Amino acid sequence: MATPTTAALRTGAQMPLLGLGTGPGSVGTWQTSTEPIYEAVKAAIDVGYRHIDTAESYADEKAVGRALREKIGSAVQRKDLFITSKLWNTRHHPDDVLPACQRSLTDLGLDYLDLYLMHFPVAWVRGEVYYPKDENGRAILCTPDVHFMDTWKAMESLVDAGLVKAIGVSNFNISQMEEVLTNGRIKPAVNQVESHPYLVCSRLLKCAADNEVVITAFCPLGRPGEANKHGITPLQDPKVISIAEKHKKTPAQVCLRWQVQRGVVVVPRSITPARILENSQIFDFELSTEEMETISRLNKDARITKFGMCDDHPQWPFSGDF
Ligand SMILES: NC(=O)c1ccc[n+]([C@@H]2O[C@H](COP(=O)([O-])OP(=O)(O)OC[C@H]3O[C@@H](n4cnc5c(N)ncnc54)[C@H](OP(=O)(O)O)[C@@H]3O)[C@@H](O)[C@H]2O)c1
Repeated sequence: MATPTTAALRTGAQMPLLGLGTGPGSVGTWQTSTEPIYEAVKAAIDVGYRHIDTAESYADEKAVGRALREKIGSAVQRKDLFITSKLWNTRHHPDDVLPACQRSLTDLGLDYLDLYLMHFPVAWVRGEVYYPKDENGRAILCTPDVHFMDTWKAMESLVDAGLVKAIGVSNFNISQMEEVLTNGRIKPAVNQVESHPYLVCSRLLKCAADNEVVITAFCPLGRPGEANKHGITPLQDPKVISIAEKHKKTPAQVCLRWQVQRGVVVVPRSITPARILENSQIFDFELSTEEMETISRLNKDARITKFGMCDDHPQWPFSGDF
């Protein structure tokens, strides 16, 4: 069976099933230098990645842009790349959406994005502090509150203006995604959510497939550097290891293959050239139906990224169904 390498978006565009994640290792732990990401993006393009996942809040879009400028026109053409960025929680006010998008475009050195996602459904206080917190460590929310549908309407204008080819959401639960599908003039093309063998999201996948929404999995490897902290270690799971041995692949390749084989886009992050290559070698083998089911049965609904600092907001997504 020929393995597809792209997912069709409702816009008609093809989104590569494999992208390079460029986000920081953990929320709030900023990279001390963006140089490794600059090198990683170049290395990824050299070994065939055509999709880069970034965001204003990763504070590395200038470094990503530097790498893109070096590669576009020589190693690759702009039209062959798929670049995703995200609107951060402090930019939900409709007046802030266009400037935020323009800033990402400037930093990336691009005149359009292939995909722009609302990073999270909750609006935080406007301003230049990415993680505004009160003395108790709680996120300072936007007052008056901005509902995500008002932010969405401003994002629709970015499509009209030709600044972004597609818009989508991230960390939206099923009912939030349905609300945008029902009330949006432009329907979301993508919902990017945490997913790995311990967080399978089967109900969300079904709802997305029924509504032509492509799912992207972030933390597709379970963010292994933080394995001990979270106890979420799919790469060390005996069943994943056994399937990997059978195919002469690594546990990381099996976790990524399982996602793309069920039509889910993956954006593993690595700044290590050998792993960047390893993570791309997932289109030359196939998991059996039984192996796919074995991995899906590992589900524990175990979540790494919880944005717990605003878990009292009515739109905090993780009390809902995924
Ligand atoms: N929308 C959202 O809210 C959201 C949230 C989090 C993340 N994201 C996106 O998703 C991307 C990926 O998520 P993530 O970075 O949190 O987690 P991840 O991709 O599951 O894990 C990244 C970690 O895995 C290591 N790694 C990479 N390939 C490996 C391999 N083959 N074997 C063993 N270890 C490997 C990397 O180490 P080295 O770098 O040292 O190789 C890095 O520490 C982010 O970069 C970001 O673009 C989005």
